[in-house]
Amino acid sequence: MNNIGVDDESRSNFVVVANRLPVDLEHLPDGTTAWKRSPGGLVTALEPILRSKSGAWVGWPGVSDERVEPFTDNGLTLCPIELSATDIVEYYEGFSNDTLWPLYHDVSVPPTFERSWWHTYCAVNRRFAEEAARCAAPEATVWVQDYQLQLVPKMLRELRPDLTIGFFLHIPFPPVELFMQLPWRREIVEGMLGADLIGFHLPGGADNFLFLARRLLELETTNTSVGVRGALGQVRFNERTVQVGAFPISVDSLALEAMAKGSAIAARAKEIRRELGNPEKILLGVDRLDYTKGIDLRLTAVKELLDEGRLDAARTVMVQLATPSRERVQHYIDLRSVIEEQVGHINGDHGQIGHPIVHYLYQPVARDELVALFVAADVMLVTPMRDGMNLVAKEYVACRGDLGGALVLSEFTGAAMELRQAYLVNPHDLDGVKNVIMTALEQDSASGRRRMTALHHQVLTHDVHKWAESFLAALTSGNDPQSDTSDNEPDLVHNT
Ligand code: ADP
Ligand code: G6P
Repeated sequence: MNNIGVDDESRSNFVVVANRLPVDLEHLPDGTTAWKRSPGGLVTALEPILRSKSGAWVGWPGVSDERVEPFTDNGLTLCPIELSATDIVEYYEGFSNDTLWPLYHDVSVPPTFERSWWHTYCAVNRRFAEEAARCAAPEATVWVQDYQLQLVPKMLRELRPDLTIGFFLHIPFPPVELFMQLPWRREIVEGMLGADLIGFHLPGGADNFLFLARRLLELETTNTSVGVRGALGQVRFNERTVQVGAFPISVDSLALEAMAKGSAIAARAKEIRRELGNPEKILLGVDRLDYTKGIDLRLTAVKELLDEGRLDAARTVMVQLATPSRERVQHYIDLRSVIEEQVGHINGDHGQIGHPIVHYLYQPVARDELVALFVAADVMLVTPMRDGMNLVAKEYVACRGDLGGALVLSEFTGAAMELRQAYLVNPHDLDGVKNVIMTALEQDSASGRRRMTALHHQVLTHDVHKWAESFLAALTSGNDPQSDTSDNEPDLVHNT
């Protein structure tokens, strides 16, 4: 990694602005520092894109009060933003993750509306906009990411009207009646409207946004339902036309498929099964520890199935990976206790010496280990109450080029709109979830292969490169982003 100054020559033609850099700075016990991959689907999706474009990435290095000069890493320029301890409490943990995150995820826990957090959110968004303005070459394309930075498009346009600005929201955009709770709703919508193109995962989110622009800001909109053949909607704002569209994000499917096919992964998958005691069936969950993910729900389902004798403790093992996330926010602290208590109950009631039922790891695992787990898992459990997309579901399917395995998928994920041949569940219907888990476990191999063939084809033909290309093509030329998705049309469900 090389330090660089951002002078005119090292300004980039393509800049991503996201709350987090793709790597977090880590202070090691021996006093040295190291960079490690940062958590979450946004980084998983965008990192391969940006590396292939040799662009710049503006973001926070994940620790407080750390001033790090811009540096390059394998052709990618990283421009760290310093956040103070107060910024982290009020902008990141507060407004981003205790106001916007729950509000946008169906108020699954009550959002906190705190004026001081809003002021810090504005100040930090301004800092990101200023850094992006500094890093971007004349007439560059700047792609702003996610709910932490919704004011950046407007601020950046004021600083650098020469730029082409895109904005993509990685989480659901809520229905108007929920969004209207936000005291600063007008400022947020106007902030996003600084972009030339605003992207959502699903047509429902784009429709919600267009409706708000019309009702709240009384702006003129056209093509008010983007669900029809993926057409773009338009909003007239400050004598500009802002495009609005749906672009379902995906994963680096080919790379995952190739990795999963490797002999090292196959060997490790077999070894994992041995290490788990050669169970007949392995259930797998992989999530950030977040209350939107339905980890507690799936543990309840598994517990009841074991209690009722429908699941055989001698033949079944569940692996649940939970990456630590937002660990100082109270709802996350509470959820961790609930989950760990549930795991303890299940193992206490149904485990044996040397043979727990649930293997629970509260830690991120290496990418190749994760792929081996996907290959080993007979049933993948993805049960969020609400999720913008859920990349884990797509990663699992991409890794199952062998056409084995089964995906249990919540209808309330963005992924469910495309992955129609998964075993779809309503996470609010516990009995339904239990029945579907049993159906997936007992599927006959021919029907399992049929389902996985369709799922695998979908994910392989709609990968993250295609997602980025379609967004950027629409951003730079106003093209129809989804002219090739007519094959998905019959599958579309209304989901925001
Ligand atoms: P979110 O962005 O809300 O965390 P996604 O499912 O879209 O949810 O993306 C999560 C990303 O983090 C995926 O790429 C997934 O593989 C990765 N991930 C989740 N948990 C772990 C873990 N314990 N170890 C390693 N990677 C993980
Ligand atoms: C989701 C969000 C991302 C975020 C990630 C990890 O994917 O959409 O913006 O980076 O979760 O969360 P964290 O709070 O650790 O950045």
